[in-house]
Amino acid sequence: MRKVIIDTDPGQDDAVAILLALASPEDVDVIGITTVAGNVPLDLTARNALQVCELAKRKDIPVFAGCDRPLMRTLITAEHVHGKTGLAGADLPDPSMSLQDTHGVDFLIQVLTDNPTGTVTLCTLGPLTNIATAFNQAPEIINRVQEIILMGGAYFEVGNITPTAEFNIFVDPEAANIVFRSGVPIVAMPLDVTHKVLVTPNHQQDISVIGSDVSQAVLGWTKFYERFDRDKYSSAGAPLHDPCVTAYLIRPEIFSGRFVNVEIETQSSLTLGMTVADWWRVTDREPNVQFMGNVDSDKFFALLIDRLGRL
Ligand code: RIB
Ligand code: CA
Repeated sequence: MRKVIIDTDPGQDDAVAILLALASPEDVDVIGITTVAGNVPLDLTARNALQVCELAKRKDIPVFAGCDRPLMRTLITAEHVHGKTGLAGADLPDPSMSLQDTHGVDFLIQVLTDNPTGTVTLCTLGPLTNIATAFNQAPEIINRVQEIILMGGAYFEVGNITPTAEFNIFVDPEAANIVFRSGVPIVAMPLDVTHKVLVTPNHQQDISVIGSDVSQAVLGWTKFYERFDRDKYSSAGAPLHDPCVTAYLIRPEIFSGRFVNVEIETQSSLTLGMTVADWWRVTDREPNVQFMGNVDSDKFFALLIDRLGRL
C-alpha cells in the first residue's frame, strides 16, 4: 500500500485518475490532494477536485489549493481541450466540501516532514509548480520523497501543445527542470505511453454498462475531450494520460520503459518544455528517470473498469 499525495489540475483525465486511486484503498492511501493551475485556472482546478471527491463519496479527503501560476512564466491553460470549466462533459453538483485553509505547498512540506523518509509518494498529474516550489522552500524534504510518479513529457510521440513539448512540462518548464534534476526517484508516463490507452467505443460500452453516476461521468468526460485527439491525431478515442499514474501504483508490471537521462529544455523558444530523453544512451548524462514507453492496454482497461465498478 502506497501513501500518496495527488497533485493535480483537473481536467477530465485527472478526474479519472483520482477516481481510480480512491477506488483502490488496498493499494493506495490518498493522504491529500493538492491542486495547481494548468488545464484551467486554480480556482477551477480546486473546485473540480472537490467535485471529484464528492462524486466518489469521499468528503474525507483533504483538498488544498496550491500555486496559481508557473514559477516564472504566464499561465497557459487548455480550455480548447477540457472546456471552460475543465470538467466539461458531465454536470456535477456544486461541491459542498470546502478547500483546506493550508496552502498546497505547505501541505506537501508538512506531510513530507512529518512522515518517515521514503514513505510518501507524490503522484503528479499537472504542471510541476507545486512540487518545485516546495523543494525550493524546504530543500530538506527532497530526499524524504519515496518516489515521484508523474504524467508528463514525450519523446517518440513528441509534443501535444507545441511540436516538441507535452502540456504539463510546457506550462512550467523551470519547475519540471527542478524536479527532474532533484535526485528523487522518478517514474514518468509520457505521451509515448499515454497515447496507447485510448477510450475506444468498445471501452465506452464497457464503462457505460457499469451504470453508475461515476461511470456516466467518466463516459461524458471522455466523450468530450476525445475531440482534441481525434481531430489532431485521428485517435481511436480519448487518451487516459493521468490514469496511467495511478494504474502504475496498482499494477506497475503492465508498464515498461527504460531508465534513461531526461533533461528539460528551458531556454529555446523553438523547443521550450521538451523532455530530451537519451533513449539510445548516446550521451554520458546520468540516467534519472524511468521513462515509460509501453503498456498492456487490455490489462489497463480491465483494471480501470473493475475499479470504477466499485464506486
Ligand atoms: O498532456 C496531457 C496532460 O496535460 C494531462 O495531465 C492533462 O490533464 C493535461 O494536464
Ligand atoms: Ca492533468
